[in-house]
Amino acid sequence: MTIRMPNLLSIYKWFQFEIIECGRTSGFMLSIAPRMGRLGEMAMAHDRLGWAVEVLSPRQSEHILEIGCGHGVAAGLVCDRLVDGRLIAIDRSAAMIEAARRRNADHVASGRAEFRVAELAGLELASACFDKAFAVRVGVFARSDPASELATLRQHLSPAGRLFLFHDEPSRSAAEILLRLESGLGSSGWGVEARLVGAVEGCEVACLIARPPD
Ligand SMILES: C[S@@+](CC[C@H](N)C(=O)[O-])C[C@H]1O[C@@H](n2cnc3c(N)ncnc32)[C@H](O)[C@@H]1O
Repeated sequence: MTIRMPNLLSIYKWFQFEIIECGRTSGFMLSIAPRMGRLGEMAMAHDRLGWAVEVLSPRQSEHILEIGCGHGVAAGLVCDRLVDGRLIAIDRSAAMIEAARRRNADHVASGRAEFRVAELAGLELASACFDKAFAVRVGVFARSDPASELATLRQHLSPAGRLFLFHDEPSRSAAEILLRLESGLGSSGWGVEARLVGAVEGCEVACLIARPPD
C-alpha cells in the first residue's frame, strides 16, 4: 500500500494546529511529538516558516519580537540574519521555550536571542522597542479578540515598527483568514500595510502586515 506524503503531512498539520495551537501543549501531543514532530517539522514547517522569515526580511541590526515561537525554528532563521540585532521570542508554554532554547543554543550564547516563557497580553519588557514583531499560527489573532495583545504590542513596537501576522488553517482559505486577522485589529487604530498570501507546498498561508496606531 502506498501512502502519499502529502496525506501524512496534512494529518500532522491537523494535529499540530488543533492540539498545540489550542493552548498549552497537551500530554497527547507531547507523547506523539517525538515520533511525528521532527519529521513533520523538517518536511513542512521549514517552508512555511522560511516563507514567513522571507516576508519579515530581518535586517542585521533590527530588534525583533516573536510571539508564540513554539520550537524556535523561525527564531533560528531570523537570528541567522542578525549581526548586532536581537530577537526576543516568547511562548506561554515552558516546554516550547525549553525546546526553542535548546535548538538555538548558539544564538542564545552569542546574546542574539533570548527566549522567555510569557503570555503576550500584559508582557513587560524593560525598555524594549522593537522594529518588527511577528507571530506564526498564534490563534488569538485569528480566532478571538486580541485587544489586550495589541495593546501590549503597541507599547513595545517602535512607531515606525510593523506587526506581521502569519496564519493558515486546513479548513479556511487565506482570504477568509486575512479577513479574520483584519477584523481582529478592530477599532484599535492599527492600520493595514499589506495583505499577502504565500503558496507553500500546496497550502495557502496568509500574512497581514500592520502598523501601530499613531
Ligand atoms: C501552533 S503553535 C505555532 C508555533 C510556531 N509559531 C510555528 O508556527 O511553528 C502556537 C504557539 O503559540 C503559543 N501561544 C499561543 N498563544 C500565545 C500567547 N497569547 N502568548 C504567548 N504564546 C502563545 C503556543 O504555546 C504555541 O507554542
